[in-house]
Amino acid sequence: MGSVSPSFSGSSFSERYPNSVTIFEMGPRDGLQNEQADIQLEDKIRLVEGLANAGLKKIETGAFVSPKWVPQMADSSELFKRITRKPGVVYTALTPNMKGFEAAVECGADEIAVFGAASETFTQKNINCSIAESIERFVPIIEAAKEKGIPVRGYVSCVVGCPYEGEVEPAKVAEVAKILYDLGCYEVSLGDTVGVGTPIKVQRMLSAVFEHVPVEKVAVHFHDTFGMALSNILMALQMGISTIDSSVAGLGGCPYAGCASGNVGTEDVVYLLHGMGIETGIDLAQLAQVGRDITKAIGKDPQSKIAKAIMYGNVAPQNMVKTTF
Ligand code: HMG
Ligand code: MG
Repeated sequence: MGSVSPSFSGSSFSERYPNSVTIFEMGPRDGLQNEQADIQLEDKIRLVEGLANAGLKKIETGAFVSPKWVPQMADSSELFKRITRKPGVVYTALTPNMKGFEAAVECGADEIAVFGAASETFTQKNINCSIAESIERFVPIIEAAKEKGIPVRGYVSCVVGCPYEGEVEPAKVAEVAKILYDLGCYEVSLGDTVGVGTPIKVQRMLSAVFEHVPVEKVAVHFHDTFGMALSNILMALQMGISTIDSSVAGLGGCPYAGCASGNVGTEDVVYLLHGMGIETGIDLAQLAQVGRDITKAIGKDPQSKIAKAIMYGNVAPQNMVKTTF
């Protein structure tokens, strides 16, 4: 496939950004998968329903993975069956193999995701196979999903660095992203699993991926371990990205990525976007309340800056910036 350059809609500075961005909410899955606390199903239901009511249109609700590997996701089936679904909201699930795919279909997941990585060691640690074997496993899942008309998202982890192998070459990320896209994933989400990215590294990585996958089919997924996530998101926006993964209250971390912290907080991303005149359809004050509720349920404070600012009384929700250009 030829080179695909990011398209910008105009020449002035603010017009270089998309008019609207889709936030792909990770809280119920990436946010909770590594939680040690015993989280009640009722709290998970409240979380998913609260996110939908706050305006999130895409919610990764659970994962159909081995309960021995990720015990916190063991009630995903029950969760999918118990939530009251809001029309227009897409409830998605991770499915590493056919067993997971069948379970996700059985409880009515609207969309599924296969997840691979640009690092051999991480792939082994995370899903117990090589990169090549992981692709072989994804093929029948994607075919079965196509037959049932279920959209498939593809993840590539370790797009900037790997907790076991260090720096990851942009070319390797581009290679795996291209395979997932060519297999039929409607979108490829690029995960900085350990949060080691900086804007320049992200720019180089995205440029390599755009050689093979159109910019509108690429999403970014930043963990915020080193506090770089928002800067990296700004770079991604400047390069034409308009789908961003994030987690309410900055919940989470990957069980197979050691000290990596949660995804960038959804509240912080929404604040950034609204402050740039970019629409998300999300009510920030309502979202922050959802974040406070789930963190209270698991005995933690929200990690997102905006949630903290509201919580400690520094900013009243009605005074939070909403810019129109
Ligand atoms: P395996 O042990 O190689 O699989 O694990 P297996 O096929 O040999 O099966 C072993 C056992 O697991 C069997 O049970 C299977 O039935 C069961 P037993 O006979 O021992 O009782 N099993 C399952 N149970 C429920 N659902 C399933 C399933 N499959 C097998 N789907 C496997 C391979 C992939 C299953 C395992 O490695 C696994 O579950 N890994 C979990 C990985 C995971 O969830 N990681 C976190 C999500 S990825 C992430 O966070 C990164 C991301 O956010 C992006 C980023 O930040 O970079 C997406
Ligand atoms: Mg993640």
